Amino acid sequence: MSALPPLHSLSVIVTTLRAAGCVFAEDEARLLVSTARTPADLAAMVDRRVAGLPLEHVLGWADFCGLRIAVDPGVFVPRPRTEFLIRQAAALARPGAVVVDLCCGSGAMGAALVATLDRAELHAVDIDPAAVRCARGNLAATGGHVYEGDLYAPLPVTLRGRVDILVASAPYVPTDAIGLLPPEARVHEPRVALDGGADGLDVVRRVIAEAPLWLAPDGCLLVETSERQAARTVEAVTRAGLIPRVAGSDELDATAVIGTRSTS
Ligand SMILES: C[S@@+](CC[C@H](N)C(=O)[O-])C[C@H]1O[C@@H](n2cnc3c(N)ncnc32)[C@H](O)[C@@H]1O
Repeated sequence: MSALPPLHSLSVIVTTLRAAGCVFAEDEARLLVSTARTPADLAAMVDRRVAGLPLEHVLGWADFCGLRIAVDPGVFVPRPRTEFLIRQAAALARPGAVVVDLCCGSGAMGAALVATLDRAELHAVDIDPAAVRCARGNLAATGGHVYEGDLYAPLPVTLRGRVDILVASAPYVPTDAIGLLPPEARVHEPRVALDGGADGLDVVRRVIAEAPLWLAPDGCLLVETSERQAARTVEAVTRAGLIPRVAGSDELDATAVIGTRSTS
């Protein structure tokens, strides 16, 4: 809204959000006020947040690596911890890098890499049509290509052996742990974005197994995982013939496993 609501209504919103269990009620209230176009819009947004929708779905956007990424209803909300993987990828990329973002969701990771790297060529894939639509919107201005399908299947074969940076934040929650997620994720994000099978690594293992076919010599695969899953992820990377390395951030509660294709 162009003008802030009177202080008392801002404090009413804070109180309403706090009563609904929003831990960061002040921050959320400020974001809702600055995003709403009219008072009626603001009231509807507060109602949707109180009903349990993720803040980013109510706002229609998420901040990721300093970019405002549109997040449509039913599309996975990019997490702050994933910014760690982007930093690792950016440190490994050369100018003009060919970048693939598998399981791209909203396209946040690809958008952040294109914004950070010098002249990157981006290809992004997701299996969920809603995510593909959302990613196409977010990546339209970058010249990136977005494909719909299962992991590598929709990528042009001409990319084989040419990918410098392959990032994947695939679903990695063990099926039995999905019930323990907060309702924002459990109820409002699609199962296909979360469920990684019995040990959480079903999709991640498929990403790793096929990576050597697509990576350029010296190309790197970077997958997001959890600290608990890191050892098994490293095993899969080693089995695929890539040189593994684990990187982590306590601050962001983030773990990345990096696999490099050796030139020899
Ligand atoms: C955890 S979300 C991550 C989304 C995005 N990378 C991010 O960080 O915001 C996982 C994404 O993987 C997609 N996905 C799941 N299985 C897939 C598959 N077999 N092929 C392509 N995408 C898949 C889901 O639709 C979802 O968008």
